[in-house]
Amino acid sequence: MMGPTLRTWLLAVVHVVAAQSLTNSTFSSAVPSSAWSPPNTSTTTTASSSSSFLTSLPVTTTSATPLPATTTSTTLTSVATETGPLTWPISEYPFTPFPTPTLAPIPPVYPETDPLNPPPIGTDYNVVPDFAPAWAAAYGKAQSMIANFTIEQKVNITTGVGWMNGLCVGNIPTVANFPGLCLQDSPLGVRFTDFVTAFPAGITAASTWNRALIRARGLALGQEFYAKGVNVGLGPMMNMGRVAQGGRNWEGFGADPFLTGEAAYETILGLQQSGIQATAKHYINNEQEWKRTQESSNVDDRTEHEIYAHPFLRSVMAGVSAVMCSYNLVNDTYACNNYKILSDILKREYGFQGYVMSDWGATMNTLSAVAGLDMTMAGDITLGSGTTYFGANLTAYVMNNTVSEARLDDMATRIIAAWYYMHQDQGYPNVTVDSFHPYNPLNQEVNAQSNHDQLVRQVAAAGTVLLKNEGNALPLTKPKSIVLVGSDAAPPVSGPNEYADQGGDPTGILAMGWGSGTTNFTYLISPYEAIQARAREDQTTVSWDFDNWNLDQAGNDAIPAEVAIVFINSDSGEAYITVDGNVGDRKNLTAWHEGDQLVLAVAAQNNNTIVVVNSVGPLIIEPWVDHPNVTAIVWASLGGNEAGNAIVDILYGAWNPSGRLPYTIAKNASDYPAQLVLGGTATDILSIDYTEGLYIDYRWFDAQNITPRYEFGYGLSYTTFEYSQLVITPIDASVDSAQEDLIQNWENGGASPIAEGSSTALWLHMPLFQVTFNVENTGPVYGGEIPQLYVHHPPSAGEPPSILKGFTNIELVPGQTGQASITISRYDLSVWDVVRQGWAKPNGTIGFSIGASSRDFRLNGTFPV
Ligand code: BGC
Repeated sequence: MMGPTLRTWLLAVVHVVAAQSLTNSTFSSAVPSSAWSPPNTSTTTTASSSSSFLTSLPVTTTSATPLPATTTSTTLTSVATETGPLTWPISEYPFTPFPTPTLAPIPPVYPETDPLNPPPIGTDYNVVPDFAPAWAAAYGKAQSMIANFTIEQKVNITTGVGWMNGLCVGNIPTVANFPGLCLQDSPLGVRFTDFVTAFPAGITAASTWNRALIRARGLALGQEFYAKGVNVGLGPMMNMGRVAQGGRNWEGFGADPFLTGEAAYETILGLQQSGIQATAKHYINNEQEWKRTQESSNVDDRTEHEIYAHPFLRSVMAGVSAVMCSYNLVNDTYACNNYKILSDILKREYGFQGYVMSDWGATMNTLSAVAGLDMTMAGDITLGSGTTYFGANLTAYVMNNTVSEARLDDMATRIIAAWYYMHQDQGYPNVTVDSFHPYNPLNQEVNAQSNHDQLVRQVAAAGTVLLKNEGNALPLTKPKSIVLVGSDAAPPVSGPNEYADQGGDPTGILAMGWGSGTTNFTYLISPYEAIQARAREDQTTVSWDFDNWNLDQAGNDAIPAEVAIVFINSDSGEAYITVDGNVGDRKNLTAWHEGDQLVLAVAAQNNNTIVVVNSVGPLIIEPWVDHPNVTAIVWASLGGNEAGNAIVDILYGAWNPSGRLPYTIAKNASDYPAQLVLGGTATDILSIDYTEGLYIDYRWFDAQNITPRYEFGYGLSYTTFEYSQLVITPIDASVDSAQEDLIQNWENGGASPIAEGSSTALWLHMPLFQVTFNVENTGPVYGGEIPQLYVHHPPSAGEPPSILKGFTNIELVPGQTGQASITISRYDLSVWDVVRQGWAKPNGTIGFSIGASSRDFRLNGTFPV
């Protein structure tokens, strides 16, 4: 049958138990003292105590606006809470509601924008949409709605009903005229229901490097959430792939903050255009699954701003409605209880107007409300416990003035405002998802799929990266015979949903990872079905062997074929499911099911061996990458329910490969700058020091002069491109005098001010330079190129050698030359100054290169700043 199986439900129960046991062990330990200074001090610079490498890096905490001087509030009082002592001043604390910034509209750079009507997709990103008026209108309505609410009613707006107590994975109850909210996973499809689409995973979308396709995927996914009556879609996910083995990397957009930020931006604009609220998650530094609820990610302030927080900044600029704080601690304070990241960076610096929800069970105490948490999910302390840190506890804290009613009003206002902001007050569809009762006919009441299969196929093809193609092995041209080898070519043995939440060893093609970031497959096209159907057009003989374990047989089967295509994969997922010893994260970076041996066995017998890889992330492919009989490598990522058809489109050249790697493929696992941190005890907090700082992925390989196997941004085409005619044009846009002053200050080396919305300000993000250049298709077929712009900062800046700051896509027929354009803002040229707590232009010449990858530069220039 289509849709969820009994196992789906059983695994949901496993999810609860697993999550409970994880969180239980956490709750028994005391909350460690915060590494941050009290937030209501004026700018103070302190050395973080959380790890020795940080001692040389000052971490500065600041307040948005000067706060009323109080003596008590700078004293850290130790108070008893449900979770033990907490170093937070409870009687007087630095809460001020965040105002909606108002700036004069400057069309067309700063058009007033309603989330249902986002700016058009450009191949460029030179529009800065202004969502402030839409937020302001929504705040007005929300404030009127809660004006007569009791404290309990306002608290109910902030408190989920508890795990498995509603139709969705998260539910806010009806309160007076507010009908409540349905919050539902996942970043690639509507979870736990029927008649929905399994879109290509985030990592595949990012591999397209194509803004239009990423936007279209967001919109189509949003339309499915909307059709099912889901108010809040729990995506996109934008963790950074700091560790190549990280279990959930495939849900996100790769290992570069700029690429991730652009993908997050387009996804959110698309999702919210459909009318649903998008959720930027997991905020922040949730970079491995091992001990995710019990690890402190120790990150210096500059790295936090430039790498990990950047995609969230872009999410705020896309007008995102919600942000989900993560399970882990950041510099020894739980993310959902972390004033610095929730209130100072997100709400003050980025000017975020929506609400912060906890990850499921990630709320650590009632006073997290003071740190900036607005909503607790799923509501209960541990999933299924029936207790809550908000609910009656929060009511009591407000009644006795431990938490001010103004802060509670702010929490409820933010949540209701997001609902008005997305116009969800105007006839929103009923919820037709029942997450925990798969056989409820409600799940089949609405067919949300539309014609999204076509888009899935396109995104999956565009997200496929051609890594090797010797002697024009591809595209296939009417081969007489093909043999398909490996289980990854096949339909899964017991149907597309053989494991709940996809949490098991895949017996067929891998088209998504496992965990909460999944959906049920309504159907799944395997390479076997797709290739066989396509091969009939040429009357090609097609044979297959899906047994990975009989290497002799695989080799023998390959002997007579004109083309042998070997399919291999590698899977990972979320920590509450362990698959073959992989506790979410991957144990290693080698192919599953003896994939390397399978390739070698086939390549030993067939001199036209093509390898297709479905993987959650990078693999070490040294055992066979240079084998002379391996003529082509197709990196097919995770394609969703049209995976097989998309692979056919690449193999036969219906889609000329245009995907580019969103991460580096190394020669050795140890070449990567960061590894999983394992070990730890049941009660201790595991320290994970981000010692590589700014040097993640290719930035590290470049700085350390390590040759990767395939670099970030790399990918081949069936045609070739040449670049020429680089021109840099300053863009002179009119701004008001206040912004003119800020621009002058920046040009003179000053940092952006410490103010509300200071990091998302128009003057900082409006286009400053336009870089144009010509691209010519010099090969034999129509194709798309992805020109990339890398900035090279002067040595004084202390930046990695090359950092991605722009990309575009251009499609050309053979012989055609087209002009491509990329714009650069002041923000793109700035670095985070930890002492001044602002974005500043480094001293010296800022160079840049335009090229086809992070190591294939074709044109070079400098910015005249
Ligand atoms: C995951 C989130 C997810 C939530 C609800 C958590 O375990 O980390 O990404 O949205 O569960 O299912």
